[in-house]
Amino acid sequence: MMKKLALILLIFVFTLQVKAQVVQNAFIPQPESVEVSSGGFNLNAQTQVFIPKAFYNDLKPIVTAQFKNDLKLDVPVKKGRISASSNYIAFEKVRSSSIKPEGYILNVSPSKITIQATDYAGLFNGFQTLRQAIPVRVNQETAVPSMLVKDSPRFSWRGVMLDVSRHFQTKDFVLKQIDVVSSYKINKFHLHLTDDQGWRIEIKKYPNLTKKGAWRADRGDIPWWERKAATADEPKPVGGFYTQEDIKEIIQYAKTRNVEIIPEIDVPAHSKALIAAYPNLFCYDEVPEGVNFEVAVGGKAPNNALCAGKETTYQFLEDVIEEVAALFPSKYFHIGGDECNKSNWKKCPYCQKTMEEHHLEDEEELQSHFIQRMHNIVSAQHKTMIGWDEVLSGNGVKGATIMAWRRGKHQPQLQAPREGYPTIMTSYTYSYISQVQGPSFMEPVGPKVVLPLSKVYSHEPIPSELTQEEANLVLGNQTCLWAEFTPTEEHCEYMLYPRTLASAEVSWSKPEVKSWERFQKALEDSHFKRLDRDGVNYAKSVFSIYPAFAVNELRNEAIVYLDTEAVGYDIYYTLDGTDPSLESTKYTGHFTTTAKQLLKAGLFKENGELLGAITEIRLK
Ligand code: ACM
Ligand code: ZN
Repeated sequence: MMKKLALILLIFVFTLQVKAQVVQNAFIPQPESVEVSSGGFNLNAQTQVFIPKAFYNDLKPIVTAQFKNDLKLDVPVKKGRISASSNYIAFEKVRSSSIKPEGYILNVSPSKITIQATDYAGLFNGFQTLRQAIPVRVNQETAVPSMLVKDSPRFSWRGVMLDVSRHFQTKDFVLKQIDVVSSYKINKFHLHLTDDQGWRIEIKKYPNLTKKGAWRADRGDIPWWERKAATADEPKPVGGFYTQEDIKEIIQYAKTRNVEIIPEIDVPAHSKALIAAYPNLFCYDEVPEGVNFEVAVGGKAPNNALCAGKETTYQFLEDVIEEVAALFPSKYFHIGGDECNKSNWKKCPYCQKTMEEHHLEDEEELQSHFIQRMHNIVSAQHKTMIGWDEVLSGNGVKGATIMAWRRGKHQPQLQAPREGYPTIMTSYTYSYISQVQGPSFMEPVGPKVVLPLSKVYSHEPIPSELTQEEANLVLGNQTCLWAEFTPTEEHCEYMLYPRTLASAEVSWSKPEVKSWERFQKALEDSHFKRLDRDGVNYAKSVFSIYPAFAVNELRNEAIVYLDTEAVGYDIYYTLDGTDPSLESTKYTGHFTTTAKQLLKAGLFKENGELLGAITEIRLK
């Protein structure tokens, strides 16, 4: 009898430990500390929620909607003081110097759950952690394991950028993404609102920007880089834009989810849609032979820089920036400043005259002059200007914040902080999620640079070369989805997820608590299921097999090497055309086989479940 009891006790303790382990490792981003203890809170229809008065109007609809979504549960939510002795969830604003901005303490005990923070952001973030502590796919009633979570962000800038110019995405799609990314504690949503292929925000003073600039000819059936420019008289059915009312709705929706919307109006280049709407802002008075003034459709977009010499350009941009700045509460205003082809400036009488008047040596200095004037306009609106790192060139622009994207020859991730600029890392090599995320032959069409999930996850935003003082200027990290190759919502989400979750952990979690193995397991165990539940499309490319082989024609042999970024699973393969399973050959290292056979390989869990897609390649 004693033996039996002991065994039951042992199983009980073991089960609890396993449960604790699972919960401990289930969060994305991983909190600073998680202590799971025995027992749990029984969340049910009688559980009451209390929210402080000041935050009630903003937080109540979110708590209500998210509990309904997650648990199909209508919880009673009350304003102000706690009027229950047990079975409640209390949001508490505290004045504790130990809780940092946006941080929180989540305490789950059998009688109550408390979320403490010093600000709204912290309460929101704590609630998102609580949601992740609740097992996925439960209905009405569930046990939340007892735990104490103490947490705060590593960086204040945890961003994602969506390019809505190359392919317009609806307001509802943007709202959905804000909902998803905020549940992973991302707090900046950067809208790349203008580019050569479309102007996406209503400007009352210049209606042509959206009447003409938001619409382009249809080349959807032709690969992006092979598209020929539109003619003036062909129909322009492709596009769309946000009205100012749409923008206000997006901003409000985001604000209650602790997300700040950062607008970008990209000038002086990337302005083909703007020039299509207002051709007088291009260099020259007479349009030169061969210059096309239609909204770009894809392919190259030459002649896309505004004239940096005409005073009308600056007046126009002052008006536009004033209108946009008034709409967005963010203290930041992004003016782009990237990739300017200055060949027209070299020939333009207006640009040359301005260079002469201001004693500018070359067109690089004219770019600095232009950016400086943007800075003056943005500063007059009491905003901080953000620019892509090209704005560092020439004389730079003191007072700006830099998005450091280029790598290789340019080292803005070092230069910007060394020159004293607050810097946001938007690394081309770690954060451009427009690049494909698996073996390129298996992925949808896109730039053929592979940026796998593990590489996004491995990013360290603070370069080791920086001094502590310079490192303090690194505000954080941001992924960017450039949308040339993502026309549909499904494809956008496929590119965004799960890489944005990896980036969220890079931006939030301290390096000490990061673990690729844990992150990847949390995805597989829990977060993919959450994304499924919420109707979010995502890639499972992390489970793809990367094949490499060399053929020896002399012996008609192929030497085969298989690789995967996932850890903790096994590769099985076949050479007879059948789909692999646990009964097939297990891959244990490179092997030699007859050439020209069809190789099929997959990644499997111990229980035989295939994790990703089957990789299929002929060995020739
Ligand atoms: C950029 O990728 N041109 C910022
Ligand atoms: Zn000019």
